[in-house]
Amino acid sequence: MSDRSRAKRVVLAYSGGVDTSVCIPYLKQEWGVEEVITFAADLGQGDELEPIQRKALEAGATQSIVDDLIAPFIGEFAFPAIRANALYEGRYPLSTALARPLIARRLVEIAREVGADAVAHGCTGKGNDQVRFDVAIGSLAPDLKVLAPAREWGMSREETIAYGERCGVPSPVSKASPYSIDLNLLGRSIEAGALEDPAVEPPEEVYALTCSVEAAPAEPRIVEIGFEQGNPVSLDGERLDPVSLIRRANALAGSHGFGRLDMVENRVVGIKSREIYETPGLLLLIRAHQDLESLTLAADVLRAKRQIEMQWGDLVYQGLWFGPLKDALDGFIDRTQVAVNGSVRVKLHKGNATVVGRSSSTNSLYVPTMATYGAEDRFDHKAAEGFIYVWGLPSRLWATRQRLG
Ligand code: ARG
Repeated sequence: MSDRSRAKRVVLAYSGGVDTSVCIPYLKQEWGVEEVITFAADLGQGDELEPIQRKALEAGATQSIVDDLIAPFIGEFAFPAIRANALYEGRYPLSTALARPLIARRLVEIAREVGADAVAHGCTGKGNDQVRFDVAIGSLAPDLKVLAPAREWGMSREETIAYGERCGVPSPVSKASPYSIDLNLLGRSIEAGALEDPAVEPPEEVYALTCSVEAAPAEPRIVEIGFEQGNPVSLDGERLDPVSLIRRANALAGSHGFGRLDMVENRVVGIKSREIYETPGLLLLIRAHQDLESLTLAADVLRAKRQIEMQWGDLVYQGLWFGPLKDALDGFIDRTQVAVNGSVRVKLHKGNATVVGRSSSTNSLYVPTMATYGAEDRFDHKAAEGFIYVWGLPSRLWATRQRLG
C-alpha cells in the first residue's frame, strides 16, 4: 500500500477519462488531499485534449495543466527507439511504453514547480503503466510519494462511475466504448471487450489509423526514407522535422493497410494479454532503419546490436527507462549510429511494407567488386581454400574421432 499519509498537494497524471477523473474527488474525500493539480500531456493524440481542463476543474481540481510534449516525445523517445529497432517480443514497437517516462519526468517537474509533496496516477494494479510510472518517478524523485488510488479502491467499473456521478464527474456520455484505448502520435493500443478472447478476430471498428488490407489501394506506393546517424530525416527527398515526418509516415503507411498488430504479449506483472496495436509510421521507419543497418554496419557489430536491441526493448517495456542498463546500452547504440546514413526505398502495398532498395554514399560496406559474379570480380577465390581448411579443422577432427569410436 502506498504511503499516502500527509499528502496535501498532489499532481495527478490526468487523461480526462472516468478513472483519472474519479481520482480527483477520491484523493480529496478518502485520502484527505487538499489540492489536486492535474497534468495532461499532449502527445499528439489529437482533439481529445480540448475539454480536458474543464473536466478536471469540474471534478474538483485546483488547477489543470496541459503541456504540449509532442516534440520531446518524438525527438527524445521515439527516435532512440528507431535507432534501437526496438520491438518488444519481436513485434510491439512500444508506442505506449515510450510515453510513460516522459509523462513521469514532466509530472516530477510540475510537482517541484508547484511545491507538491506527492504525485498520483490512475493506473490499476494489473498493467505495465503503473510499473513504468512508479519506477520512473522513484528514479527521478525518490522523495516524492506516488499515490495510485485506482490500485487500491477496489471499485468495479460501475461503482467507479457511480462514485464519479456523486462528485461531479459525468458518466461517459456516448454509449461507452467497450475498448480500452491508449493513443498518441506513435499509435494506438486497443484492449478489452471482444478482444479479450484471443481466438476472436478483431472487429474492423477497433482500428482508426490504418485501413484494412481489403480497402487498401490496388496500386503500390514506393516511399524513400532518408536517414542521418540513424535518425529518419526525409521522405521522398523532402526534409522534415521529426514530428512532421512521423505524421506523414503514419498517414502513408496507414493508408496502405500497414502497421496493424494482433498479439498475445507478456506483461511485467506476469499476465498474458491480447493486444491490438496500430503503429504504422513507427513500424515502417524501424523496418527501413534495420535494413539500412544491414548495409552500413559490420557483421559483428550487427550481431551484437541485435542482442542489445532485445534488451533495450525489454527494459523500456519494463519501465526501466531511467535505469543504468538503458544508459549503458544507449552508449553502444549511439556509437553504432554514426555510420547509419543513407536511404531506403519501401514499397507499401496491401498491408505490406517491403524494402526494395537501400543505398549509402558515405557508409555502405557493400563492395561490388567483392560481391559480383561478373568479370569485375576482385575476390581472391584461391584464398578461400586455406580459410576453409582451418575453419573446418575442428569439425573434421571431431568427426574422425566419432568414426574411430
Ligand atoms: N500493453 C501495452 C503496453 O504495455 C499497451 C498498454 C495500454 N495502456 C493503457 N492504459 N490502455 O505498452
